[in-house]
Amino acid sequence: MELSDVMRTTAAARAFTAEGLPPGALHRILDDARFAPSGGNQQGWHVIVVRDPALRRRLADLSAATWRRYLAEQAAGYRAFNPVDRAPDHIEVPDDLPAHPLLEAIEAVPEVLVVTVDLRTLAVTDCDLDRFSVVGGASIYPFVHNILLAARNQGLGGVLTTFLAASEPTAAALLHLPDHHAVVALLGIGRPVHQPTRLRRHPVASFATIDHHDGPPLDPPS
Ligand SMILES: Cc1cc2nc3c(=O)[nH]c(=O)nc-3n(C[C@H](O)[C@H](O)[C@H](O)COP(=O)(O)O)c2cc1C
Repeated sequence: MELSDVMRTTAAARAFTAEGLPPGALHRILDDARFAPSGGNQQGWHVIVVRDPALRRRLADLSAATWRRYLAEQAAGYRAFNPVDRAPDHIEVPDDLPAHPLLEAIEAVPEVLVVTVDLRTLAVTDCDLDRFSVVGGASIYPFVHNILLAARNQGLGGVLTTFLAASEPTAAALLHLPDHHAVVALLGIGRPVHQPTRLRRHPVASFATIDHHDGPPLDPPS
């Protein structure tokens, strides 16, 4: 596929056909994804390919608790898990919330990956600011997105979920993570049931401005 087409059509796919990945496909995906940039080229990522159904279920159940909290915070009018405007702890999480499609069917997902990062590889230039830090993620999520782009390039697809990070201590024990390694994402990869081709995204003029944040929008090419 053309790079631009891959970038414009890599949707979040949460449901997959029963067909597995073609032989060698996962290795090829990771072999492309490893060319992601990282601060200082430290490449602090590790990928655990989770194939044990019981382990998948444990990870999905941990993730589902966060999914339910996410829905409950949203239902209460909050931007869920937002660090600036934190939802209060006392929000009640109802029992009858919808299941997350990836987590519900986790045993049947063709490949489940947990990406972790060695925190000792990160250079986090905003770590001393008096606000929530974002720079560390920039050394690992380009790699994660590369996995999704590489999957799309092979006619496959997947979704990045971050629910598991909220249960990191339990997940770390289940996955035998060494000290200083953090949970980055749990991904499902497969052949999507639906392959959307038109993603809903804001136009360039809504987020690119000249000279200042409130400057004039960047013009489209004439
Ligand atoms: C950092 C990040 C975290 C995400 N976490 C989740 C998640 O926990 N669960 C999930 O179903 N989707 C997750 N997504 C997928 C987003 O929901 C998805 O990219 C977005 O809704 C756009 O969907 P589309 O590409 O299909 O239009 C995450 C995406 C990113 C980039």
